[in-house]
Amino acid sequence: MGLTTSPARAALPSSCQPVAPAHSVPSLLDDVRDGLLTSPRSLPPKYFYDDRGSRLFDAICDTEEYYPTRTEDDLLGHRAADIIARLQPEHLVELGSGTSRKTRRLLDACEEQGCHATYWPFDVCESMVQDSALALMDEYDWLQVRGLVGDYHAGFEHLPGFPGRALFVFLGSTIGNLEHEYAVSFLRELRGLMGPDDALLMGADRVKDSDVLQAAYNDRDGLTAEFNRNLLRVLNREVGANFDPTAFEHRAIYNQARSRIEMYLVAAQAQTVTVKALDASIEFVEGESILTEISRKFTPASLTTLLSEAGFRIEQHYEPADGFFSLLLAAPAAD
Ligand code: SAH
Ligand code: AVI
Repeated sequence: MGLTTSPARAALPSSCQPVAPAHSVPSLLDDVRDGLLTSPRSLPPKYFYDDRGSRLFDAICDTEEYYPTRTEDDLLGHRAADIIARLQPEHLVELGSGTSRKTRRLLDACEEQGCHATYWPFDVCESMVQDSALALMDEYDWLQVRGLVGDYHAGFEHLPGFPGRALFVFLGSTIGNLEHEYAVSFLRELRGLMGPDDALLMGADRVKDSDVLQAAYNDRDGLTAEFNRNLLRVLNREVGANFDPTAFEHRAIYNQARSRIEMYLVAAQAQTVTVKALDASIEFVEGESILTEISRKFTPASLTTLLSEAGFRIEQHYEPADGFFSLLLAAPAAD
């Protein structure tokens, strides 16, 4: 995990490189101080994704309840050939790439069309970038993978150049984990890096029946609960906290008024947790919660607003018949 204070891992393999922050972002310690020592308590979701958290997320994607992954994968399976034929990109740059499982649809289309793009997976989870880079280079003998390890909230100025056309890919509805204003400024920043012929392919989950949404974040195998509690293990390891993860319950509810899932860790009983690195302790009363993630759900109108406020023009809007998920191909709008 590249966001924390753990000792540096061995040097990255030549297929991966670190991305230096272009501007400062709060450290984990800052986020713990600002988010946990004050009430209401919250933490940014990027800290879920150490190696264990990333693997738990990948397991969630295979659950019956978590429809977004298979829905988006199916959309990509049907549309990747058109997208690649239309753009013929020289670079595929993926933000929050994880295991790159759905990106294979785009790579398959590249392979079929002889479009030998370079793939740049960019993720905060170093082990994921490394493992996926190696797996992909094994699967596609023509493919060059150049892994990028860093925090995409720290700006894009220090990314390498992408001469020729680049397709920026932001899948999984990870955009929904950001508040609207932040999502706009994040996409604007990305827009600033893009040339006029570049494009953005973004996945976004849609508003739907709340039972379907709620089930997706409360799978019966408890993987989402474990993913949520993993945050506490990260805090124990990285800032010397002494959370007992079993003393917190997973809660995910759909907030209809705000069109978003809210995920919490709720103290099962009153408890005191110490954070060594801050020389501080936190008193939790029974039932007190930490907001660990929001996952916003969109409508076609809210997606149009988001992308136009960020300086993009939607070129294609792909969706399944049930409108469960959107895949948007967008171009930078003229200034
Ligand atoms: N795109 C994949 C994974 C989505 S999970 C999919 O659609 O299935 C979100 C991914 O974003 C994780 O791999 C996580 O490590 C990464 N991520 C979260 N916050 C990040 C940040 N600030 N900088 C870089 N990567 C981040
Ligand atoms: C990565 N992100 C879009 C996922 C989501 O659905 O908000 C993370 C996740 N949290 C719980 N389950 C999946």
